[in-house]
Amino acid sequence: MPIDAAGSALRELHAWLLECHSDTVDADRLLALRAEIERLATDHIPGAVIELGCYQGATALWMRAVLDITGQRDRPVHVYDSFQGLPEPGPRDPDLFPPGFLRAAPEQVLALHDRWGCTPPAIHPGWFADTLPGQLPEQVALAYLDGDYYNTIRTCLAACVPRLAPGGILIIDDYADPEINPKAWNGLPGVKAACDDYFGSPSPLQVLFGDGDLAFGRYIAPGNR
Ligand SMILES: C[S@@+](CC[C@H](N)C(=O)[O-])C[C@H]1O[C@@H](n2cnc3c(N)ncnc32)[C@H](O)[C@@H]1O
Repeated sequence: MPIDAAGSALRELHAWLLECHSDTVDADRLLALRAEIERLATDHIPGAVIELGCYQGATALWMRAVLDITGQRDRPVHVYDSFQGLPEPGPRDPDLFPPGFLRAAPEQVLALHDRWGCTPPAIHPGWFADTLPGQLPEQVALAYLDGDYYNTIRTCLAACVPRLAPGGILIIDDYADPEINPKAWNGLPGVKAACDDYFGSPSPLQVLFGDGDLAFGRYIAPGNR
């Protein structure tokens, strides 16, 4: 079904994602990402939207749909994933998931977009260390990092922060700072550790809040906002 400007299809997609993709998507995440994507249009931030760690494509589909109803049909979406699931956790990561957990296939991303009549993203399969150096768009308006582990997030930050447009937005999932937001889910502390080590102190990251246990960090590239 095509996503149209009326927004009713977007509401339907929202409900469907919460019902069928609740393993990686929740209402706080969808709302926060929608607000950031709307901001790209109002602030005229140039560049692509990218997701590093797309799994089955649920969030990529949401971002595409929001872009489409906010007059940003021409803005490309690129997604990246090993499609082999998570790697081994490193020493800064908890032993929560076995290697290979969250394995998906590019065909699932395509099928999800097809089901909702949305333009599919450009899909870049492979480990981030191999794909990001040569396959990122020249300019990135919004990067959504959802790679779970310390080494992965370090790799993502090193590759994509230099590509952010002035005013470009980086959203880091699982970034929890219990001192600022005690409600945030803090199951993957390697994510914040990677951000702290990359950005140094004082951290330029802002903590985003939701109604539930949202753990989102936001970095805005210096520039025209
Ligand atoms: C939590 S899932 C992403 C969920 C997705 N963002 C969503 O909202 O539906 C994490 C994904 O990151 C991928 N991943 C983790 N580390 C990676 C790495 N170093 N290189 C490539 N992909 C990686 C995994 O394969 C997995 O699909």
